[in-house]
Amino acid sequence: MTQETILEALKKVFYFPKRDNVVALNMIRNIKVDGDEISLTLLFPEKDEKNENIVRDTCINTLKELAGKDAKITIDVGVPVDSLAKVKYVIAVASGKGGVGKSTVSVNLAVALSQLGAKTGIIDADIYGPSVPMMFDLIEAKPEVREKDGKTIIIPVEKYGIKVLSIGFFVDQSQALIWRGPMASNALSQLFNDAEWGELDYLVVDLPPGTGDIQLTLAQQIAVSGIVIVSTPQEVALADARKAFSMFNQENIRIPILGLVENMSYFTPAELPDNKYYIFGKEGGKKLAEQSNVPFLGQIPLVQSVCEAGDRGVPSTLEENSIISRAFLELAKNIKNEVSKIKQPE
Ligand SMILES: Nc1ncnc2c1ncn2[C@@H]1O[C@H](COP(=O)(O)OP(=O)(O)OP(=O)(O)O)[C@@H](O)[C@H]1O
Ligand SMILES: [Mg+2]
Repeated sequence: MTQETILEALKKVFYFPKRDNVVALNMIRNIKVDGDEISLTLLFPEKDEKNENIVRDTCINTLKELAGKDAKITIDVGVPVDSLAKVKYVIAVASGKGGVGKSTVSVNLAVALSQLGAKTGIIDADIYGPSVPMMFDLIEAKPEVREKDGKTIIIPVEKYGIKVLSIGFFVDQSQALIWRGPMASNALSQLFNDAEWGELDYLVVDLPPGTGDIQLTLAQQIAVSGIVIVSTPQEVALADARKAFSMFNQENIRIPILGLVENMSYFTPAELPDNKYYIFGKEGGKKLAEQSNVPFLGQIPLVQSVCEAGDRGVPSTLEENSIISRAFLELAKNIKNEVSKIKQPE
């Protein structure tokens, strides 16, 4: 028995008020297995005295089918604390194609927002290839985990004035690769819901590339204020950016798209900062934004120091008045502006 087989079995348990199974609804937490003893927490979206016992008993019976009738099964029932209650805006950074610079944009955007005076956090939701630990020089970081009223609470790590959590802090990469949908979604949901985020103006989320489970979990379970799509000016990347637009626009998802950022817009050599070489084509991103009727949020040049800074763990936006910090401050201002149009903070 593993966490995975347990989650697989519990997919049979339905929670009628929300018309889906308890795994899809991410109601299962803290699974522990020790021989034939299984314990877990069942989190209800809200207090539900009418159904609590029925759902809990169904879970117990389902697990007994899996583990044998003598198995000792303990299920605690709870309701989630709203960890995001004091977070004004959740901004997810997505792309259709991989490697276009989502993580670079997420990290530098978080730094730029913080430089504009906003309280900022970042979640690295890239289960299969987390890069935020490296980009923030936090490879060795281990966030503190506390137990409070029977619930696990994760304390984000603070770096450069930003609260940081990455799935990479918790899992060995060779294991993450074999995670299937529900495991990955469950882990992601913990980074949002079981962490002590406190008061934040912006929580930036670095997504994995594409349009898979992670993006769906996010859409279904977390109140994302808006999506920023990153693309390079190349046709292949733009074609995938279009797919990302339509994914987030689908009837059942519908997260507002804040706009498109064009990364690696032109190459600027360090010794010739005024020269721009449009090696991937000129303004493809800007044109796509116009055609798709979404705001164009800005251009980020291709600069060697960005790549080096990423590897050193010191985001280049921290380097004041550089080409890159100017580009990201501009981007951050545009995003703030777009965000303020979609939802007024209470
Ligand atoms: N504007 C830029 N100038 C120079 N290098 C860049 C720039 N943007 C990104 N890079 C480099 O390109 C590589 C890919 O960037 P990054 O990891 O941010 O992409 P990603 O979209 O997050 O990738 P993945 O899809 O794998 O998550 C990194 O080595 C990064 O340093
Ligand atoms: Mg990435």
